[in-house]
Amino acid sequence: MKRKILVVDDDAAIVEVLEMRLVTMGFDVTATNDPDVAMAVVDGTRFDVALLDLRMEPTDGIALMEALHARQPRLPVLIMTAHGTIETAVNAVQRGAFDYLTKPFLRDELRSKIFRALASRRWARDRERLLAVGQTLASSGIMARVLDTVAQGAVETTEAERCVVFQQDHGRLVPMASAGSMPPSWPALESAARAAMAKGLPVTFPGSGGATIVAAPLVVQRGPTGAVVIETAPGVEPTEDDLDLLALFSSQAAVAVRNTHELERLRSGALAALGRMATEVAHELKNPLAGLRLYARHLEARLGKNGDADGAGLAQKITSTVDHLASVVQEITAFGRPPELHRVSTALHPLLDECLAFAQARCDNPAIEVVRAYAAACPAAMLDARELRKAFLNLVLNGLEAMSAGGRLTVTTGYSADTHTVSVVIEDTGAGMSEETLSRMYDLFFTTKPHGTGLGMALARSVIDLHGGELAISSTVGKGTRVTVRLPVEPAPADPGGAPA
Ligand SMILES: Nc1ncnc2c1ncn2[C@@H]1O[C@H](COP(=O)(O)OP(=O)(O)OP(=O)(O)O)[C@@H](O)[C@H]1O
Ligand SMILES: [Mg+2]
Repeated sequence: MKRKILVVDDDAAIVEVLEMRLVTMGFDVTATNDPDVAMAVVDGTRFDVALLDLRMEPTDGIALMEALHARQPRLPVLIMTAHGTIETAVNAVQRGAFDYLTKPFLRDELRSKIFRALASRRWARDRERLLAVGQTLASSGIMARVLDTVAQGAVETTEAERCVVFQQDHGRLVPMASAGSMPPSWPALESAARAAMAKGLPVTFPGSGGATIVAAPLVVQRGPTGAVVIETAPGVEPTEDDLDLLALFSSQAAVAVRNTHELERLRSGALAALGRMATEVAHELKNPLAGLRLYARHLEARLGKNGDADGAGLAQKITSTVDHLASVVQEITAFGRPPELHRVSTALHPLLDECLAFAQARCDNPAIEVVRAYAAACPAAMLDARELRKAFLNLVLNGLEAMSAGGRLTVTTGYSADTHTVSVVIEDTGAGMSEETLSRMYDLFFTTKPHGTGLGMALARSVIDLHGGELAISSTVGKGTRVTVRLPVEPAPADPGGAPA
């Protein structure tokens, strides 16, 4: 696959010369003297490098670069100028250019800077992603989280529209994690996954509406057990780099799957007990620590008032040590909690639809009827869609999993103008929960399912808490379970996660 280069210069003669030279170097060149044309082209095509003239009317090269970066953040840009001064070069690089080129071009300089830009693009994005995936692999060993990171990483680096990670389960391919938008057709992705598994190598298929589907097999020990599948935007062809990256991600995912299988064998016993103990201890410590902190602050204030500076200093040390302990406890109780929320205005219904589609694809049971009762008055809310998606997905999956014998899952939304909150009620007619399960469902690693990790409810609760929301459960054995989630439409002013991203 040829690398794609975009050239924009208002001097038609330069455009022509550059185009010829770059084509001879083996590139696929799109050249124009109109910045507006360039913006339009970037919407449908992904470029590997852009060469932009600095002085153009009415949009100069830097402004055009910034507009291009808004659409393709990692696109390396070389700024071309006939009046190359150190200042213009430094300014261009500070504003995000990879490098600059002085006209007239020296052949070798043109070539070497373009190749350096190509190499850096690859290196920068690979390094970022590998770091993220590597860290999750090392720190988690929890399949759902690792596969989630793999899917997210694959979407971000290949700039694909979506990624789904499939795993084989009793002869059926089950989507285990997804990122990006929901696929228009699951069967297309599934058959690509099957083809990749049969071949043992990455495969490429045409997707819907001119998109391309690429699938790479997940090879664990003896053979493929699943596949990582991406689908590009219509009209965008994946590059060689994308294929390499996808192969890399699928091998990362394969390592995670293998590790998790090992861990799952352990988790059933020792880890479940450990997780429960950690949560219980943390809960027990929370209140006494808050009391201790209060007394120490009082002591500090009193000693300070009596002129005992040494004593006040000691009391201050007690306070900061207690603060440290409290943050450790907080970390344990807030397992799985994202470091900060990225709130944007989010429509709840499409988010719920996505979770329902994904959960149904994963838990395919024709005896379950899914009913949506969405309130038209439900407004968009400031939410972190990515985090909430995990929470809702688990709640919906729990509902479906509780109805292996069939039943009805009802998802109802509502809006209360008084409290300015939106509500989501997920109700199933499944097995229900015993008193013991109800009291333990938020414990880390508590599960009653043979293949459960027991992290879903802990994660859902921490995400909803962080949004300043409420999670309430009522359940009756043999009748079913009703989960109510309430979320404020706007974050409270003092909410630390409240700053919009
Ligand atoms: N809707 C429900 N109906 C019946 N039981 C439920 C429901 N939701 C949760 N539970 C119980 O709570 C337990 C913990 O749920 P949680 O989502 O934390 O873990 P899990 O579903 O077992 O595993 P996973 O990590 O895959 O989500 C479940 O194993 C189940 O016993
Ligand atoms: Mg669950």
